Amino acid sequence: MKRPGTSRQARGVFLTLEGPEGSGKSTQIAFLGAALRKAGYPVVYTREPGGTKLAEIIRGTLLSASSAEPIAPETEAFLVLAARSQHVTHFIRPALARGSIVLCDRFADSTFAYQGFGRRLSLSWLQTANHAATRGLLPHFTLLLDVPVSVGLARRRQASGKLNRLDRESRQFHMRVREGFLTLASRTPRRIKVINANRPAHVVRAEIEAVVLGWLGKRRRKGG
Ligand SMILES: Nc1ncnc2c1ncn2[C@@H]1O[C@H](COP(=O)(O)OP(=O)(O)OP(=O)(O)O)[C@@H](O)[C@H]1O
Ligand SMILES: [Mg+2]
Repeated sequence: MKRPGTSRQARGVFLTLEGPEGSGKSTQIAFLGAALRKAGYPVVYTREPGGTKLAEIIRGTLLSASSAEPIAPETEAFLVLAARSQHVTHFIRPALARGSIVLCDRFADSTFAYQGFGRRLSLSWLQTANHAATRGLLPHFTLLLDVPVSVGLARRRQASGKLNRLDRESRQFHMRVREGFLTLASRTPRRIKVINANRPAHVVRAEIEAVVLGWLGKRRRKGG
């Protein structure tokens, strides 16, 4: 059943930034938002897990839960998807309906990379559950910021001094996540553009701006 308002989402543009820990998503999303605003686009920022009051509470639980009661992989997936459902319904779809460019720091590809490749939950189950949580909303375009695991974790450590529950996972887990992201990109190359984020931030920034402004221009010419 189609809910009211779903067809109007086509007015906006949904862009996501993905990548492992410390790849520079939060740094680059701020640069990209500023560049798009300067070019005259209406931009809103958001992030996952999070983006609404309830979803941010779920984020806090996901990142800080104590090792006294480890979160089961399925529980983790349901929490991430519960937060996403709330976020899509109360933030992302309304912003798209207003015609905004929604810049989102992580989205469904992180679920497939972390809970699928990382935790080894079934990808087809995650796709079905994600489809239910989002009612089929997909990003129009995704930047995958790729860095070697050791580089990303070293940046995180340097930035905050302490690591969250997911940062503290094993090196093997983080390697599966990184490879998982790259596998997703190779399966959907038209939507996901891989950016080498193991370069100085200003170099990554320039490439991202060129790629996104080029993509938006092409989309406009096609009448999208
Ligand atoms: N290209 C870069 N080179 C070196 N350091 C960087 C680069 N990009 C970001 N950093 C630094 O690395 C740290 C992590 O960056 P950032 O928070 O943007 O990553 P992230 O992908 O959002 O991480 P997380 O997944 O943990 O949210 C920050 O201290 C940031 O200043
Ligand atoms: Mg971040």
